[in-house]
Amino acid sequence: MTPEQKRLVRDTWKQLAPVADAAAGMFYHRLFEIDPTTRTLFRATDMVAQRKKLSQTLAFAIGGLDNLDTLVSKVEDLGRRHAGYGVTDAQYDSVGAALLWTLEQGLDQAWTPPVAAAWTEVYQLLSGIMRNAAARAERLQSVWPAPFEAAV
Ligand code: HEM
Repeated sequence: MTPEQKRLVRDTWKQLAPVADAAAGMFYHRLFEIDPTTRTLFRATDMVAQRKKLSQTLAFAIGGLDNLDTLVSKVEDLGRRHAGYGVTDAQYDSVGAALLWTLEQGLDQAWTPPVAAAWTEVYQLLSGIMRNAAARAERLQSVWPAPFEAAV
């Protein structure tokens, strides 16, 4: 990401801060509409708390774009936990589409092509780190259980 893209993401995120909770509500509504497979993952979830967690995590990630080293290990942990929730690669694409759609609705005139490109980059960066960490954890799990079981 270029410094200009980081600036665009930070500025537009600030613009949305006052309506973050409503935007998160719109996001999940849109997600469940475009990809009904995601709905079952949240069947036992307190969605009020979940909306807060999502926007807090995005805020943390956006704040950390200049500090990628610290950010990466946290986002990797998040990705491994998501593998545990049963999240698939295809669902990452749906979440990306729902996120960009929500930002577009919220930002309206401020949603310009460079802003769209910058947010696409951010989501690809974060979801790429999450997916890679999840895939690595799954590969390790498929290698390790047998010798471990044999040893006990
Ligand atoms: C950049 C992408 C994402 C971010 C920042 C994010 C953020 C979070 C956060 C902060 C939590 C709280 C629990 C934890 O920290 O482990 C969470 C839980 C969860 N997320 Fe995500 N998430 C992302 C992508 C996805 C995707 C692609 C899916 C698939 C539909 C998904 C489904 C879930 C589910 C099912 C939970 C658990 C809910 C529960 O506790 O019942 N997330 N997410």
